[in-house]
Amino acid sequence: MERCAAFLIEEPENLRGRWLARFPGHARLYVELGCGKGRFTADTAVALPDTLYVAVERVPDAMILAMEKIDRRGIENVRFIDGDAKLLTAMFAEGEAARIYINFCDPWPKSRDAKLRLTAPGFLRLYADVLQEGGQIHFKTDNTPLFDWSITQLEDEGWALSEITHDLHANGPVGVMTDYEAKFVEQGMKINRLVATKTGATKGTAAGAVPRLRNASLTDARGYEESLEANRRNAT
Ligand SMILES: C[S@@+](CC[C@H](N)C(=O)[O-])C[C@H]1O[C@@H](n2cnc3c(N)ncnc32)[C@H](O)[C@@H]1O
Repeated sequence: MERCAAFLIEEPENLRGRWLARFPGHARLYVELGCGKGRFTADTAVALPDTLYVAVERVPDAMILAMEKIDRRGIENVRFIDGDAKLLTAMFAEGEAARIYINFCDPWPKSRDAKLRLTAPGFLRLYADVLQEGGQIHFKTDNTPLFDWSITQLEDEGWALSEITHDLHANGPVGVMTDYEAKFVEQGMKINRLVATKTGATKGTAAGAVPRLRNASLTDARGYEESLEANRRNAT
């Protein structure tokens, strides 16, 4: 941890609203939630040298491996926060970020845990607060029930969806892979991906009460259309 101290932001709340001023020479701020061991973090940051890339990870053991990777490769545009995504609005000011990456987040399959999913409405509203208008969430997962459930949440929360695919690598590898993704792809599993864009209709924390999540179990892996229809019925 000591060797990587240069990359670690211990008190992110002190940089809230000042990230790009504190680290000049960057055109924009991207945030990754749950970076794990940091393969995606490192490769994406290298591809985007004029972007300040902040990785948030709540498990220090994984984050240390990610920081070592950044150190070893001499990458300078990444900083890490040892923290929880639920505190995002304490770390970043309104409209401060241009993009949020969420890769292979924990599916929390039980209905009673649905609010812990990083694509649950409570989290989506935090993302809407810290993203600028036109800012995006880039989301990947191997878990199709989670993916389809997330589509419904994003639509209900007013995000504009694009680039939706249930088989990202159908025609060969696409984009930067994460540690988990590389393993799944090796096992022949399909990867889901989408981009969600913040619009004038996207709900932030000011929108009021977060909808209650009913019948949100992911153990029943229904088809895509059927799942969307069932979730819509449950929401009304
Ligand atoms: C399944 S791993 C995926 C890691 C990496 N994104 C990948 O694709 O290889 C999920 C990661 O998200 C982190 N995580 C889960 N919930 C989080 C939260 N609320 N805030 C920050 N990190 C979180 C976990 O600690 C874990 O490292």
